[in-house]
Amino acid sequence: MESIIARLEAIEEGALKEIKAAQTIEQLESLRIKYLGRKGEVTTTLRQLGKIPSEQRPLVGKKGNEIKEKIQLALEEATEALKQKIAAEVKHIDVTLPGRRAYSYGTLHPITQVMREICDIFLRLGFDIAEGPDVELDYYNFEALNIPPHHPARDMQDTFYISSDVVLRTHTSSIQIRVMEKEKPPIRIIAPGAVYRCDADVSHTPMFHQVEGLLVEKNVSFSQLKGILTTFMEAVFGEGIGVRFRPSFFPFTEPSAEMDISCVICGGKGCRVCKGTGWLEILGCGMVDPAVFEKVGYDPEIYTGFAFGLGVERIAMLKYGIDDIRLFFENHLGFLKQF
Ligand code: PHE
Repeated sequence: MESIIARLEAIEEGALKEIKAAQTIEQLESLRIKYLGRKGEVTTTLRQLGKIPSEQRPLVGKKGNEIKEKIQLALEEATEALKQKIAAEVKHIDVTLPGRRAYSYGTLHPITQVMREICDIFLRLGFDIAEGPDVELDYYNFEALNIPPHHPARDMQDTFYISSDVVLRTHTSSIQIRVMEKEKPPIRIIAPGAVYRCDADVSHTPMFHQVEGLLVEKNVSFSQLKGILTTFMEAVFGEGIGVRFRPSFFPFTEPSAEMDISCVICGGKGCRVCKGTGWLEILGCGMVDPAVFEKVGYDPEIYTGFAFGLGVERIAMLKYGIDDIRLFFENHLGFLKQF
């Protein structure tokens, strides 16, 4: 009798352990067959009841039934728990949820944003927008701007040549000539666009963007140029920005100047970005050279004008504190998403 009871207890222990470990409804069903089925371990063990003395049978039988019930109960509980787990997992997949977008909405490229901001300011100041081709004749890019062949100023801008007289424009000043050829003064335009120079480092890319400005009328003065550009810088960088004009040289303007703004990083105290000077070079400008007016058939005795050219990337870098121009063209989402 002892041995049958011990055997039943061992079966119980094994069965409960296996039931606990079962992962699927199918595994539980095969455990039910293994232990409680017609040829199951509990069933076959209890069949040996006949071999023990009749007065001991009720005791062993009772034990056997208890174990059967325990296993049965454990199987039912485990099956129920598994069913609930599966149901919960199914619920997890909410087919009514909208699909997940790969990206949030796109935004305009920072250069486009700054370009538009620059254009908006000049539109408010009464300028119109003019455009010209990126692939340009040598004549418009150099010749008509008072830069004849072999002029040393051609070295200032390392040029991509398409052929001996066709280039990728090195500046938007070419558009000045195209506009003046077609129209008579008064002229008040800005010309935004991509320009190309054979140059690449942290502050130069082979393609970048400029906005050209041109104003031609009677009695245009240098002080008007200073006024317009100062108003513009205040609109971009805030009222407190300091500006100064330094004498410079461009073949198509006379006199020529470079405009500086007070360093946006240190506020003019001197830092690494402004190389300790407190000033940042921001654009080139000047009064239109009479030689240019003659090329387009304007009488320099009647008309005067001013022109300027500014770099869009340069303004965007200073506005947002970006120290490497190449970031604009690498298209990393982490960078672009910040704008
Ligand atoms: N075209 C000049 C440059 O690219 C800038 C400039 C434009 C200077 C108009 C004077 C007048 O550097």
